[in-house]
Amino acid sequence: MSDKISIVININNKNVKLNIEPRLLLVDLLRNSLELKGTHIGCDTSQCGSCMVLMNEKCVKSCSILAIQCDKKSIKTIESIGKENNLSNVQKAFKENHGLQCGFCTPGFIMTAIECKKNNISTEKEIRDFLDGNFCRCTGYQNIVKSISYFLKMS
Ligand code: FES
Ligand code: FES
Repeated sequence: MSDKISIVININNKNVKLNIEPRLLLVDLLRNSLELKGTHIGCDTSQCGSCMVLMNEKCVKSCSILAIQCDKKSIKTIESIGKENNLSNVQKAFKENHGLQCGFCTPGFIMTAIECKKNNISTEKEIRDFLDGNFCRCTGYQNIVKSISYFLKMS
């Protein structure tokens, strides 16, 4: 008898049928089974936010969610946000404001920035508070906050 479980997740606007072990983490499903390597793993303590994705349009740390918890839900990863030659507004904002250095943390910050916009965040303090769950080891945060502030003002 198989100990695997069948689920369906809408990943980046496509329904994907999966047969998975109950212990599989969402981040491992995305990176190892589906080759969606833009979602990063930066810690093993659920602190860094590099693994942030949108689950039913809300930010979650995919290292802290089991894949089976996503059954019949929608997951959006950085791969759905824009293309190399057709950047989305949030990506343009980071590019124009130098909101990254090594870029390792950037997918997580982009997902959080998208949720910032939905929550009508506007002041610098509100942005900094909202970024509480994302760590960057390079930039000192100044240009990340500037990028998000710029993005929030874009139509
Ligand atoms: S890898 Fe998920 S919070 Fe760090
Ligand atoms: S840009 Fe390097 S960790 Fe944030």
